[in-house]
Amino acid sequence: MTVNCNLILNRMQSFIQYATLIGTMKAAVVYYSKGGKTRKVAEAISKGLECGALDVGTDACEAAGLDLLVVGSGTYGGMPGPKIVDFLNGIPAGSGKAAIFATSAGPSPKSIQKIKDILEGKGYQVISSFSCRGHFLLSNRGHPDEKDLEEAKVFGSDLKKRMGP
Ligand SMILES: Cc1cc2nc3c(=O)[nH]c(=O)nc-3n(C[C@H](O)[C@H](O)[C@H](O)COP(=O)(O)O)c2cc1C
Repeated sequence: MTVNCNLILNRMQSFIQYATLIGTMKAAVVYYSKGGKTRKVAEAISKGLECGALDVGTDACEAAGLDLLVVGSGTYGGMPGPKIVDFLNGIPAGSGKAAIFATSAGPSPKSIQKIKDILEGKGYQVISSFSCRGHFLLSNRGHPDEKDLEEAKVFGSDLKKRMGP
């Protein structure tokens, strides 16, 4: 079997770069975004939390060793994206804290509950969640907008305070 050491090293570096130490607290935002709207929310949360945002579709994502795992997705047919579900199913059981976010066309996205069920099944304590509307067809044009993104940033900074030193 050929092991591509450079690929593994690159992925480790990308993880270390994004999973930032906040005092002694290690956190990462991991998201799936098919159309880019959830990505904007993920980036706003990571700004507030002062850590990076990892795209589960392209970045190496690890949950092991984190004190806070923040997971988000758009909502597709009432579900989070399959790639984030695969990521969650693949993470080892943990005892850390987690937070969830989602974007959706309608209110109260069911994807949040689905993510919560998987995380709690793994032993994570889900401490908070955030959702906002995302533009879809003729609805929610312009969302997430500036106000949504400011609220997402505040969600991130509140998480930071809650996890504080
Ligand atoms: C194929 C598809 C299915 C969707 N299904 C739902 C749904 O079941 N419920 C809902 O509230 N929004 C639904 N939406 C709207 C998306 O959740 C919303 O546009 C979200 O912001 C997309 O995020 P993204 O741009 O990060 O992919 C759907 C969108 C697409 C493209």
